[in-house]
Amino acid sequence: MTAKTAQPTAESATVLETVLVVDFGAQYAQLIARRVREAQVYSEIVPHRITAAEVQARNPIGIILSGGPASVHVVGAPALDPQIYELGIPILGICYGCQLIAQQLGGTVGRGGRGEYGRTKLSRLAASRSTLLPQKVDDGIDVWMSHFDAVSVLPSGFTATAATADAPMAVIENTSRKIWGVQYHPEVAHTEFGQAVLENFLYRCVGAKPTWTMSSIVEDQVAAVRALVGSERVICGLSGGVDSAVAAALVHKAIGKQLTCVYVDTGLMRKNESAQVVETFQRNMGIELIHVDAGARFFERLQGITEPEAKRKAIGELFVRIFEENTGGLTDAKFLVQGTLYPDVIESGGIDGTASVIKSHHNVGGLPDDMTLKLCEPLRTLFKDEVRKVGSELGLPDEIVWRQPFPGPGLGVRIIGEVTPDKVAILQEADAIVREEIRAAGLEREIWQAFAVLADIRSVGVMGDERTYGRPIIIRAVTSDDAMTADWARLPYDLLEKMSSRIINEVAGINRVAYDVTSKPPGTIEWE
Ligand code: XMP
Repeated sequence: MTAKTAQPTAESATVLETVLVVDFGAQYAQLIARRVREAQVYSEIVPHRITAAEVQARNPIGIILSGGPASVHVVGAPALDPQIYELGIPILGICYGCQLIAQQLGGTVGRGGRGEYGRTKLSRLAASRSTLLPQKVDDGIDVWMSHFDAVSVLPSGFTATAATADAPMAVIENTSRKIWGVQYHPEVAHTEFGQAVLENFLYRCVGAKPTWTMSSIVEDQVAAVRALVGSERVICGLSGGVDSAVAAALVHKAIGKQLTCVYVDTGLMRKNESAQVVETFQRNMGIELIHVDAGARFFERLQGITEPEAKRKAIGELFVRIFEENTGGLTDAKFLVQGTLYPDVIESGGIDGTASVIKSHHNVGGLPDDMTLKLCEPLRTLFKDEVRKVGSELGLPDEIVWRQPFPGPGLGVRIIGEVTPDKVAILQEADAIVREEIRAAGLEREIWQAFAVLADIRSVGVMGDERTYGRPIIIRAVTSDDAMTADWARLPYDLLEKMSSRIINEVAGINRVAYDVTSKPPGTIEWE
């Protein structure tokens, strides 16, 4: 889908106290930004090319320089506009960011040492006074390191307050210039008191207040949506997923009856999913919902199609046609709600404010090219965990807020071979058993996705005295942070046994259950 008009987004309506996280590469910046937000201070990621003038224009209360994969000694290594150090805004450099501070302010970063990777003991330097470090450092704490170079000569005005075996200046501080640096990674979970160091920087060094709470986010976004859409009519396509559900609930809180949601039931949803969407949105929240029961049309269109991409294309195209048919009457609509999240914005370069992202992959096949709607993206500044919290704050039930990711084309991409109503019915039952048992075992929040796949083969089995010739169900369960990589979940044997015996006993036509022990890569999470 492409939106034809420019992209006003539901950015924050009030001016938030913001900490800028300068991104020097890899995934460090996102984690730092999340940790800052966990301390209830709003943070945004900016590219390292940001100029002092651009920083000033954003008026941040503090700046954190992230780690990164480069060495400061490499030609063309990313640097910070040196004028930023002169703005008087408190700065914390982490790992690469710490070395950059030392190098750019006249110190030296030594090379050719041994480097430190993984867990390392950090100790306070005798008689040093630190604004950054918690008391506990006096006893030595375990911190997580990943560096080769290390600061060897301090820039003038700085003192070193803690050291490790191979980094004698592992924490550097200049209180009068309000610049601090830590060689280790306080943002990673393995670092002891890491969050305390970040909070010391935020609360003591920056003077930030912990005001960025879930209720403040909701209030802010409600105001932003109202300011953006005024009295215009707004459409939201519900997919059954978390993001569109939370976006819809938020927009509804802001503008009530001006919002119409459209839910196209493709017949390829999970068991009871459609009933739950209708129950939650229409009955409980009173949202105007167009529920299109289109299963029969999808099954007709999918007849005879076995090739995975052809299947996706068929589902996507029909979805678009049905969405259009059902929104055609809403000729006065001016906005389309999208559940775009902050990582999507960052990954597409949108942190410069240059790009508006449309998640074509995450829509069923995308929406029409000639749709002249403006976008309303109320989750554009939020991470996934924050979206779930906002969902709960808005009163959405756990079953929706904690729902696993589900592909737009639904069970259509979990049935190998032709998709028929019978096969979908079999898969819905098996899938419901897998998810029920995962929930009963208390593993729902640890597992990224757990589901059933219906393979297009048959094999011989025996049930009672009967020889059977049935299909197998494959159970797929993975742990993951972002779906880019995933590990197969080490489910307890007892749990697998329970799922297997329930599936074979309760789902007709299945005589065998297999467990997929492939990670991603080389496998994908879905089977299609
Ligand atoms: P794979 O199978 O590529 O999946 O490892 C990665 C993640 O993306 C989800 N997925 C989709 N989500 N529309 C979506 O909204 C889709 O077409 C789609 N295909 C895969 C998948 O469930 C997993 O979480």
